Amino acid sequence: MFVLSGKKILLGITAGIAAYKTASLVRLFIKSGAEVKVIMTPASKDFITPLTLSTLSKNPVHSTFYNTEEENEQWNNHVDLGLWADYFVVAPATANTLSKMANGTCDNLLLATYLSAKCPVYFAPAMDLDMYIHPSTKENLATLKSFGNTIIPATSGELASGLVGEGRMAEPADIVSFIEKDILSSLPLKGKKLLLTAGPTYEAIDPVRFIGNYSSGKMGFAIAEAAANLGAEVYLISGPSNQQTKNVLIKKIDVVSAEEMYEAAHSYFKQVDIAILSAAVADYKSKNIVTQKIKKKDATLNIELIPTKDILASLGEIKQQQFLVGFALETDNELENAKSKLKRKNLDAIVLNSLQDEGAGFATETNKITIIDKNLKEKSFKLKSKLAVAKDIMNEIVISIRDQE
Ligand code: CTP
Repeated sequence: MFVLSGKKILLGITAGIAAYKTASLVRLFIKSGAEVKVIMTPASKDFITPLTLSTLSKNPVHSTFYNTEEENEQWNNHVDLGLWADYFVVAPATANTLSKMANGTCDNLLLATYLSAKCPVYFAPAMDLDMYIHPSTKENLATLKSFGNTIIPATSGELASGLVGEGRMAEPADIVSFIEKDILSSLPLKGKKLLLTAGPTYEAIDPVRFIGNYSSGKMGFAIAEAAANLGAEVYLISGPSNQQTKNVLIKKIDVVSAEEMYEAAHSYFKQVDIAILSAAVADYKSKNIVTQKIKKKDATLNIELIPTKDILASLGEIKQQQFLVGFALETDNELENAKSKLKRKNLDAIVLNSLQDEGAGFATETNKITIIDKNLKEKSFKLKSKLAVAKDIMNEIVISIRDQE
């Protein structure tokens, strides 16, 4: 699955025999694309060595507030660790640690980090069956749930004591898939389909020449990633661009010309919930594509150009349930032009970038946008990386869709 790709996972290990399984857990998290840091309670080091975990996670493992080796004496900042994490997973979570966390005790680094963490927290309890069903454990688990934390239920089986019953830590693969499913179910665009156009189009003149533009596709690909990270299934129709995507929720459809982009956009539009047209489509194409390379002559060369089809406007005409978003790249009268495009093309929102703004536009790493909704309400954003801009655009779309539903 994709949901853990690029995410930062803090794994907290406490002193249960199931700690030996955390080596596999670290490997599975890394295999799913996450970055992992490990913190341990001091007693858990009797069950698995920090060396194993630091080797597998490729990060130092911490278990105390200070590093004690003289030459390397430094404070292990639990606040930083807590803020670093996108997800905090405590596995195995012993009855002792559950009790301390439920009551706000913080006499070791793991407990202090828990109190500092702002991210979602998962617990995979592991203990003997009688401890698991004891009212105090049940109460502690209920308290942790009431804090918004999630419990990954222990399973039944043979326990370290030799007894058979509930209390075994869930298997590492089941912990990973539990967390992935849980994250996926909470994503705001889960189950939604999104059509996106990106990059330039090339309009052939002869077999070796074309009319094109400087669009890199960076903004469109960043939007594809941001939308997929919110759970959307993305159809990314891309003109010639060297941008890459690995996200399994993004299906890339390569096209070259405006006509091909038009056909592809129309073939997906009916089934989608959202369409964002960020491509820099050529407005004109050569009337006749010459089949042989045009030879140089001394006289002036005239190429007759005819308009391409306006993909966005054509989708605006047939739009039903789709939330349709266009882009406007302007050099003057920006707001006025963008608002008129929004109305003319029957859009739900338009993203304006002005070439007057330094750092905005084609081929840059940054962009500065104003989003205008269909009631002509404007929202301006600061100059940001294209990835951050993509997140802003998707957040605004999520809010608008929620308001509509
Ligand atoms: N667009 C499109 N098909 C075209 C031209 C533009 O889908 N043939 C879309 C772009 O992807 C963008 C929006 O229309 O979302 C606005 O593009 P832009 O080039 O700024 O506007 P135009 O309508 O082409 O107007 P102008 O070039 O005169 O500003």
